[in-house]
This record gives sequence, structure tokens and C-alpha cells, in this order.
Amino acid sequence: MKQHPQTLGEFIISNQKDFEYSSGELTRLLNCIRLAAKVVNHEIRQAGLVDITGTIGNVNVQGEEQKKLDVFANNVFINALTNRNIVCGIVSEENEDFITISGANNAHRNKYVVVMDPLDGSSNIDVGVSVGTVFGIYRRVSPEGTPVTKEDFIQAGNLQVAAGYVIYGTSTILVYTTGNGVNGFTLNPAIGTYYLSHPNIRIPRRGHVYSINEGNYVHFPQGVKDYIKYCQREEDDRPYTSRYIGSMVSDIHRNLLQGGIYIYPKSNEREDGKLRLVYECNPVAFIVEQAGGVATDGHRRILDIKPTDIHQRVPLFAGSSEMVKEAMDFLK
Ligand code: AHG
Ligand code: MN
Ligand code: MN
Repeated sequence: MKQHPQTLGEFIISNQKDFEYSSGELTRLLNCIRLAAKVVNHEIRQAGLVDITGTIGNVNVQGEEQKKLDVFANNVFINALTNRNIVCGIVSEENEDFITISGANNAHRNKYVVVMDPLDGSSNIDVGVSVGTVFGIYRRVSPEGTPVTKEDFIQAGNLQVAAGYVIYGTSTILVYTTGNGVNGFTLNPAIGTYYLSHPNIRIPRRGHVYSINEGNYVHFPQGVKDYIKYCQREEDDRPYTSRYIGSMVSDIHRNLLQGGIYIYPKSNEREDGKLRLVYECNPVAFIVEQAGGVATDGHRRILDIKPTDIHQRVPLFAGSSEMVKEAMDFLK
């Protein structure tokens, strides 16, 4: 008889060593995230059928227009994490300040905080293109039993205890790491169960894809312009193929599986690039490194940057190790 692939629940149980210090709290936290992702997935799959596309008429703290689904996904994740009394605080792209969870359940006794981009690439939602969710998990540094502080959320990325993303694409895949490699689980929507579909993901050392918004070419630093021309030159294994979805999760996911480099550089218009260090770049950097790749801001390892602000931005060069190192040589 053909054996069915392991479910995410079975996988977590059989990998309890990943959670040795956590007394079940981290397991419950991952369970909570996988449930919230199912709810968001269900809603996304109805885009065009019910009134969930378009903007809400608000601008978030980043100065970006909020989509209805940005707000929906944010509420789903916050409610799930709050109601189950699992974490003591949350940082979200959609909330200006960090969220303190306390109240009747004494949640500030909990050990973990979550940072998240509840819906990444949301401009894609109205046009049928894949989007994602990104999350990182830290052990709090403030004393248990007291309300969280900003310090709990601005820890260096190398202190993450787990990180992951969900891609809502042709299928819905949850990819995460607890620091022991990277695994991907595909949702069977008919029964609401995730199955291990991408065990031990390793990113190839080189690939043939470069992913960057070339529309901004004129604004890029000379080193980035030179690297783009290098990618396009007919030489050795080049020219590379250009692939840019405009949803970081989707671009990273493709390059993780097939090899490639993802770049969101600084520019004349955006001194620190666009992507957010705490809840976009750090989780992705943890996953990319755990898969054998490299993630830098062009000079420094992303995971070693000490954030000063929960919404700060940083340039990102992430993907196949040899390609990222090559790109960094152009910036010297
Ligand atoms: P978000 O939808 O969470 O604001 O993130 C969008 C980000 C990222 O997902 C994507 O790679 C990038 O913005 C695309 O930006 P450009 O349109 O400037 O290329
Ligand atoms: Mn995003
Ligand atoms: Mn977002």
C-alpha cells in the first residue's frame, strides 16, 4: 500500500527535538499560525466572488494603501494568536505600534513574540497572482509576567527561534524552519491538512534566475546596475532569466526551489530599500540560510543587523550562495 506523506502535525510530533526548550508553547504557536493561514487561504480563494478585493481607503504606517485583504489577514492572525493565549506580543506591518497581549489570561506570562507581514504582495491580489504571509518568532527578552517592550521585537534576526512563510499560489504551501533545516508543507484544501511535500529544502548554489524590479534601474546604485548588466551578458552560464512577481514570498520561494537571486536594493528614491527588516527580511534570511543560501543587505549579513525600529527598512540580496556573493562583489 502506498504510504501517505507525513502531515504537518505528525512532522511536529516526530521532530520534538526541535522544540526541546519550549514545553509545548512553540508547537501550539505553529499550530495557531497554520490554522490562521488556512482561514486566510480560504478567503483569498474567494477573491472576485465576494467583496474582498480593492482598497479599504486607509493608509498604513508605511504610507501604503491598505487592501481589504491586508486588514482581513491581519485580524485573522492577531485574533488567533490572542484568543489562544500563546504569545505575549505581536508586531505587524499593518500596526504602527507593537501589540501587547495581556488581559484576563495573563498572556504576558507567555514566552514568545511574533513579528509578521500578514499579507505580502497584496497589490497582486486583485489580479489573480500569488501572495504570502511571513512570520518570525522570538523568545522575549523582557521578564516574563510583565508587559512586552520594544526590545522584545528589535532583536537581531539571528535570535529567531523559528520563522516561516505561507505562499498562497497555485497551491498553498507553508515553509518553516526552527533552525534545523527547512521543510515545506502543502495544504490539501479539501480536508484542511498540510502534508510534507518539500522535505529538507536545499537551495542550489547557483541558479539561472535574477529577480529585481528593473523598472527602477535608473535609480539604482552603479554596482547594482553593473550586476544587472552582468546577469544579461552572454558569457559562461549567462544570460540569466529575469523573473519578478512583485510578491517577495513568491519570488523567494521560486528561487529557493530552483536557485536564483532576489534583490531589492537601495535607490535614489529609497535610501534603505523598501522591505522591512523585522518582519520581512529577517524571517526570509533565516529560511534562506537554513536552506544553504545567503542573505545580506549587500554588505552585511541580514541576521546580524541589530534593528532600532520595528518598521525599519533594509536592502535585501538573498538566494543562491554563489550568486549573492557575486552580486556583493559588484558593490565593493
Ligand atoms: P507588501 O504587500 O507586504 O507591502 O509587500 C510588498 C513588497 C514585496 O512583497 C515585493 O517584493 C515588493 O514589495 C515589490 O515592490 P516593488 O513594486 O517596488 O517592486
Ligand atoms: Mn510585504
Ligand atoms: Mn504586507
